[in-house]
Amino acid sequence: MATRHLIGLDIGSKYVRAVEIACNKKAIAICNVRQEEVPDQNSLRDVLSNIFSTTKFKTKRVVTAVSGRSVIVRYITMPIMSVDELNNAIKMEASKYIPFEIQDVVLDCQKLQQGGSVEGGSTGLSENEMRVLLVAVKKNVIEEHIALLEALGLTPDIIDVDAFALGNAFELRSMMNTTPESQNKVIALVDIGASKTNINILDNTTSQFTREIYMAGNDFTDAISKKLGIDLAQAEAIKKDPGSKAEEVKEAISGIIDDLCHEIRLSFDYFENQFDKPIEQLYFSGGAVYMAGLQDLFERALEKKPLIWNPTEFIPVESEDINPEELKHHAPQLAIAVGLAARVRKD
Ligand SMILES: Nc1ncnc2c1ncn2[C@@H]1O[C@H](COP(=O)(O)OP(=O)(O)OP(=O)(O)O)[C@@H](O)[C@H]1O
Ligand SMILES: [Mg+2]
Repeated sequence: MATRHLIGLDIGSKYVRAVEIACNKKAIAICNVRQEEVPDQNSLRDVLSNIFSTTKFKTKRVVTAVSGRSVIVRYITMPIMSVDELNNAIKMEASKYIPFEIQDVVLDCQKLQQGGSVEGGSTGLSENEMRVLLVAVKKNVIEEHIALLEALGLTPDIIDVDAFALGNAFELRSMMNTTPESQNKVIALVDIGASKTNINILDNTTSQFTREIYMAGNDFTDAISKKLGIDLAQAEAIKKDPGSKAEEVKEAISGIIDDLCHEIRLSFDYFENQFDKPIEQLYFSGGAVYMAGLQDLFERALEKKPLIWNPTEFIPVESEDINPEELKHHAPQLAIAVGLAARVRKD
């Protein structure tokens, strides 16, 4: 039986990671995991080159993601039409929502749901309307990405968006998890990295809202550096291991936490008002969540306890090179890479 392999490559601003997943009709398994820090953007190519020359990946096919201000994701409402009609209409429609020239972007769209009442709540659509997911990415961003991957001898398969990869990782986890923990629920995924926080709100594993907030781990480090009067490298070290300075660190970041939680709440309120459904559970990931005491600070500000989830929890590991303890430790940082590789199921 043919087994397919795919590498999910998450190129973050602080860390890169590659997760390879193997899949056939019967089973799915993780067969390689690598994570490396990127000291600065000039060394990105060397870090990647090192990962790919020293890991025994079984494929060259890679899925990566783009993110940032050159990526526009919109959930738009359009009259019901066929997929062909939608593909024809989308250029005109997109020009209303995109702050770039249409000829400078690559467009993608997907029909999500049709209006009318559905079980379990409102779609917010009237009977002759449908919701469409529109993604537009600046062409030069895609071209740079492809050039980087091809220079490494890799074969770019799909270029995804961080927030959707996060959703795909959760969908895979739900599929592999035989307990009904997250089924049929409205949940919010929040990934707090170094430069940005990604939100994806899922209703029964279908993405209904995504947003990127440009506030994350780097802002914690900045705040610690200012408050304690130390440089960024020292602040980064204290953030990871505050020792006797725990209280000062907590105080230093409280303003950032408030601002970030305010933005997160705006997104949650928007979703809850539009869909008339409460968000039942919060799942946090990303490197920033390792910070001691962060869960409590978020719980206080969001009035819900965020769970730090492990995207690899229910996926078998098929490699002697992977240390299960290490995998578990790095897991919160691997959500996006796992979600990128999870596309192997739909190959
Ligand atoms: N043990 C730790 N304690 C506190 N913070 C940590 C720890 N380990 C990593 N971080 C922080 O996590 C952040 C990196 O997270 P992550 O790997 O998710 O980012 P990234 O994907 O590289 O960035 P981005 O997605 O924003 O481009 C950094 O701000 C780093 O300081
Ligand atoms: Mg990231």
